[in-house]
Amino acid sequence: MRILSIETSCDETAMAIVKAEGGLRAPRFRIIKNIVSSQIKIHAPYGGVVPNLAKREHTKNLPKVFAALYPKPYTPNPDLIAVTVGPGLEPALWTGIEFARDLAKKSKKPLVGVNHLEGHLYSFLFNLKSQISNLKNIFPAIGLIVSGGHTILVRMDSLARYKKIGETRDDAAGEAFDKVARLLELGYPGGPLVSALAAEAREENIKGDFPFTRPMLHDGSFDFSFSGLKTAVRNVVTKREMTGELKKQVAREFEECIADVLVAKTLRAVEEHDVRAVVMGGGVSANTYIRERLAEALEKADASAEHLVPPPELATDNALMIALAGYFHALKEDFVAAENLNARGNLKLS
Ligand code: KG4
Ligand code: ZN
Repeated sequence: MRILSIETSCDETAMAIVKAEGGLRAPRFRIIKNIVSSQIKIHAPYGGVVPNLAKREHTKNLPKVFAALYPKPYTPNPDLIAVTVGPGLEPALWTGIEFARDLAKKSKKPLVGVNHLEGHLYSFLFNLKSQISNLKNIFPAIGLIVSGGHTILVRMDSLARYKKIGETRDDAAGEAFDKVARLLELGYPGGPLVSALAAEAREENIKGDFPFTRPMLHDGSFDFSFSGLKTAVRNVVTKREMTGELKKQVAREFEECIADVLVAKTLRAVEEHDVRAVVMGGGVSANTYIRERLAEALEKADASAEHLVPPPELATDNALMIALAGYFHALKEDFVAAENLNARGNLKLS
């Protein structure tokens, strides 16, 4: 099945063409095209994504990305159209939905609406290793979604069956990276910038004298809380002179704090749910330090569990992951009439 997918939930206008086969038991995917048009430069001066600017840029970029996807004389002939319906910024989501509706009407092809978070949850399947290994052997698994808007732990019994077991009660991990980057005057998006500074600090053996409290580390739940960390960082940077050295200390201590919490909670979920694998997705799962810390911890743990991650460039928003989730919906014949497709800004992962 050839899938055309569209993603406009935040600040990337993304489209992809993916060939999918094998069903839910042994899915295989071939990437035909993958285009991500980023609006980062436009939102950077504001330190975050501005919804109406995002809408304007998506509207401008969608036809351009589509033309790059199907250069003339090729005419679009997908078997399925998949589009993100939420969660995300509603004005931004609507641009993709309207584009998809239009295409579906013109081409008379079936349409599915996709939960962006499901896309992140499945994006590990683009890792060659996980396509080769027998999928049956990785379930039950724990899924860790860490993005700009969400931090969620799920138990997965199969690709089609999963249940949320914990989530952040306030800020998401990626949001915390972005806020700390703003406090350190590094720019947007903060994750890669804070992480690069933290790596320098570790290399140069620079360490601060202000360990941040690890939020909700021992509370017994699988929930997270990262908003206090931002306050802790603000306390340090407002009380001291902001030198290059202080920035490195803060970045390192902050990243280690996030990693400690994510690793500890994930590890406990692995043990309590007695699972065979941990799959990661979302922008923060591109973070090398956090990936390495989790892989190390899983190796050392009594319960052995495989660690499956998307390629770093596919951890952040893209349309390939929307095609993947769209394929699974199509297998369930979960099609939607164009006029019934709606943006759902607060869509949850069940
Ligand atoms: O999944 P994503 O692309 O979009 C959402 O669905 O939110 O995630 C974006 C988030 C941003 O907060 C960004 O700062 C963070 O992921 N991020 C990272 C890294 N790359 C992106 N955070 C930590 N380390 C990274 N290398
Ligand atoms: Zn995302």
